[in-house]
Amino acid sequence: MLVLGIETSCDETGVALYDTAAGLVAESLYSQVDMHAEFGGVVPELASRDHVRKILPLLSTLFEQAGRTPADLHGVAFTSGPGLIGALLVGAAVGRSLAYGLGVPAIGVHHMEAHLLAPLIGDVPPPLPFAALLVSGGHTQIMRVEDVGRYQLLGESLDDAAGEAFDKAAKMLGLGYPGGPAIAAAAERGDASRFRFPRPMTARPGLDMSFSGLKTHTLTTVREHEPLTAQEVADIARAFEEAVVDTLVLKCRRTVRETGLNSFVVAGGVAANRRLRTRLQEALPQVVYAQPSLCTDNGAMIAYAGALRLVAGQRESLAIRTRARWPMAELEAIG
Ligand code: KG4
Ligand code: ZN
Repeated sequence: MLVLGIETSCDETGVALYDTAAGLVAESLYSQVDMHAEFGGVVPELASRDHVRKILPLLSTLFEQAGRTPADLHGVAFTSGPGLIGALLVGAAVGRSLAYGLGVPAIGVHHMEAHLLAPLIGDVPPPLPFAALLVSGGHTQIMRVEDVGRYQLLGESLDDAAGEAFDKAAKMLGLGYPGGPAIAAAAERGDASRFRFPRPMTARPGLDMSFSGLKTHTLTTVREHEPLTAQEVADIARAFEEAVVDTLVLKCRRTVRETGLNSFVVAGGVAANRRLRTRLQEALPQVVYAQPSLCTDNGAMIAYAGALRLVAGQRESLAIRTRARWPMAELEAIG
């Protein structure tokens, strides 16, 4: 079954072809980061308008690269939530209409489920049940994965997502957008002993987290030392990254201890962070990641997650549906 995946939930237009027999056939991605960088973050209306401009040329390139045509498709998957509604509507409208025109089934995919399943593209899944850490710009969640499609939320950030905290801290340090890679690069040159940032909610029991206090702490530290030297920027970036990584590692270790789940899947944009990957690798019995290019938003993960649901016979109605919020526990089980 050849499935087209379309991702437009935020600031990346991603398209991909996934073949359930042959694996990932082709993918194409257009990132809007340069456009949003000027504003220090994603401007939703500009994001939607740019998806409208880019999506068909990107699809055309994708089919050309793969040597296939839309007539070869057996199904179309598109992100239907959670995300920016205007941005989601572009991919959903194009994807649903394309499937209707071709007379093939369509499926709306949950963006975070697609992140969660991305490490399994072309890889052997860990034995079920397993734990998952989902860390993106909009979500920071620890889940129990009973089966593909059956998820239980064990803990989450009560305020900012980890990626959002990276983005805000980077802005305060004048490092630009997106903040995660910028903080990680600056932190490489930082002295870990210069500043120590708090590890919020780690002293309390449970698996919930909080990252908004770190933002305040970053701002206070920046104010105290202004004007910052390049070394101070690097030292603060390092202290910030250490605090986020320590907090996530502690909560994951606690998950293993409290649930007995030994395998962890780690996914979402922040899972591309090298220090986080190294530290989790050391701390957890078994940890599986997507390759770094599949950690951040992309069409391949949507094609893959959609293909699993299409193969199981799930179908989208003709109504074009999008959702800004969509708890994963509400998803239908697969199979
Ligand atoms: O999953 P994603 O591409 O989009 C959402 O679904 O939100 O995640 C984007 C987030 C951004 O906040 C970005 O700063 C963060 O992931 N990110 C990173 C790194 N690469 C991306 N954070 C830390 N270190 C990185 N290397
Ligand atoms: Zn994402």
